[in-house]
Formats: sequence, C-alpha cells, structure tokens
Amino acid sequence: MRETRKRICGVDMEALDRCLRERMSAHRYEHTQSVLRMALSMAKRFGENEDKTRLAALFHDYCKDSGAKDNNLLHGGQASDILREEYGVDDADVLNAVRYHTTGRKGMSRLEMIVFLADTLEPGRTYEGVEILRDLAFKDLETGVLRVLKELEVYLVKNGLAMTPDSVEAIEWLESRGKKEANG
Ligand SMILES: [Fe+2]
Ligand SMILES: [Fe+2]
Repeated sequence: MRETRKRICGVDMEALDRCLRERMSAHRYEHTQSVLRMALSMAKRFGENEDKTRLAALFHDYCKDSGAKDNNLLHGGQASDILREEYGVDDADVLNAVRYHTTGRKGMSRLEMIVFLADTLEPGRTYEGVEILRDLAFKDLETGVLRVLKELEVYLVKNGLAMTPDSVEAIEWLESRGKKEANG
C-alpha cells in the first residue's frame, strides 16, 4: 500500500516544499530551513504542537521574495492570506504566527513567539549579541521577545524609522506582564 503523504492542516508538505524551492532564492530557502530547525527545538522545549510549528515556520517567508517595495512589512500578512485562501488552512494560531512574525503583537501566543524568535535568532543570523538573545529565548519566550523588540526599537530609532503599532503594543503588553510577575 502506498504511504500516505504527510499533511498538516490539510497542506501536502511535500508539495509545499517543492513550491518553496521554486519560489525562493537559495538564500531564503536555507534561512527557512534554519528557522524550521530552531522553531522545532523551541517547540520541544516549550511543549508547543510540532506540526503547527513546522507549517508556520516553513510558510513564514512565502511572500518575502515578491520584490514589492514595502515588502518587509507586508510579507507576513500576504503569506497568511495565501495560507488561508489558497491552501485552505483555518487554524488561527498558525495564520497569526505567519502574519505577525516580523512585528509581534499584543497578546501573541506561544506559537507566535516561537516563530518570531526563530526567525530573528536562527543560526544564520550573525549580528552582535545574537547568541545572548538566543540563550534568553530558550529560557523564557516572553523575555526573549521583549528583548528582541527593544533591540529592534533601538535600531529603528537610530535609522530614523518608526516601529509598527503592533510592535509598540507588544512591548507595552510584555512589560506590563513582566511587572505583574515581579510584583507577585
Ligand atoms: Fe519574514
Ligand atoms: Fe524569515
């Protein structure tokens, strides 16, 4: 009997891999595989669903090489729309993990944090201080996301750019949760 092909949320994972290889640059494909590996080890560490993690990690940069000018901000939302409309995925957590992978957002879930952190901290990323952030992310997801967003804020301010409202709200939300914890 022919082995059933692996599907996650209805998506044929072999077909998705072929599609990713076709539409992505070699560099982007390698980054995606690296995000996948790091996201899966974080999923194991924090008890997240590994199939959902796999699908969200593989799909997160589906639209990154589209060439549009403001693509840095738009590609997460575009990929999330395609995942829902063309691939028929209706799992809100997977869709949100793809949509908010560059910005984060207030109330982000464990899966969203894992994809966000794996994208920023995968071993292919070599900026200064990345190892410290990587260690932190494996210790505590919320602290990891907060630190990454704070560093992003510093970088953006230095370059005369503004944070997205989603990122600003994510920082405020994480800080208020941290304070509550500190106050017991
Ligand atoms: Fe991305
Ligand atoms: Fe990415």
